[in-house]
Amino acid sequence: MLRFENVFFYRESANTISEVSFDLREGEFAALIGENGAGKSTLCRLCNGLLKPASGRVTVCGHDTATVSTSRIARDTGFLFQNPDMQLCQNTVYGEIMFGLEYALSDPEERKRRTGEILELFSLDGGRDPFSMSRGERQHVALASILACKPRLLILDEPTTGLDYRECVTIMGIISRLHSDGTTILMVSHDMEVVADFAVRALVLSKGRLIADGPVRQIMKDKKVLDEASLLPPQIPALAMLIGGDFSDVLTADEMAETAERAVRQKGARK
Ligand SMILES: Nc1ncnc2c1ncn2[C@@H]1O[C@H](COP(=O)(O)OP(=O)(O)OP(=O)(O)O)[C@@H](O)[C@H]1O
Ligand SMILES: [Mg+2]
Repeated sequence: MLRFENVFFYRESANTISEVSFDLREGEFAALIGENGAGKSTLCRLCNGLLKPASGRVTVCGHDTATVSTSRIARDTGFLFQNPDMQLCQNTVYGEIMFGLEYALSDPEERKRRTGEILELFSLDGGRDPFSMSRGERQHVALASILACKPRLLILDEPTTGLDYRECVTIMGIISRLHSDGTTILMVSHDMEVVADFAVRALVLSKGRLIADGPVRQIMKDKKVLDEASLLPPQIPALAMLIGGDFSDVLTADEMAETAERAVRQKGARK
């Protein structure tokens, strides 16, 4: 679905992406994590063809980004920018979603129907001006307009940054449902709790290099990798590692609660 083969990219002659190779298979949910300036947003822009590799190859849904147009890539790939204002350009929410659908659906009636569905799903008021909304609300609109096109691959550059807890849960609920329905997802996030709760695989970028690629469960407990990328483990696995024993493999709050309950039951049975 998304393949990087020995990719290099330079900005102002500095190496921003070096020797990056990975293969994201259909249906995977991977988090791209790393310190500020590690190259995560640059890597995302290499995925949608906005940037082309200096050497190596990026293949998206079978298309080499060096030889195919960005509009062709956009047919299969939804891309959420780190800053939602980079993609909002209409003066109503309704217009924004209709605009996003222009290439995906040729029938205007079908476009209107899909826009109605999406407004309902996201509980959005179609008549509002996106630029009179808060940053979190604009992020919501940007994501809604991307999802309206039902992309096979979703590249999300910090989808929950700037959102309050309730908005974060709503947005991650929608993303998680899309993943369950088979959408392939690459999500940049600085929120290790979100990564631990939702992603299955983690790609760790540090100074433009991929320093680790593996199950989230394993990477969140790899102190050496986390230190190298200046990342703090989420609180639950950090606490679980401290307790040790049955808790050693715990990653999420739900798993923590289940393991604690089991431990209490076993203690009760021994009495
Ligand atoms: N348009 C640009 N021109 C020149 N250098 C840039 C440009 N955009 C980014 N850079 C540089 O490229 C490097 C990688 O930036 P990038 O935005 O990809 O990092 P990031 O991992 O997304 O960081 P953050 O977590 O802060 O969003 C940084 O050193 C940055 O200063
Ligand atoms: Mg970034």
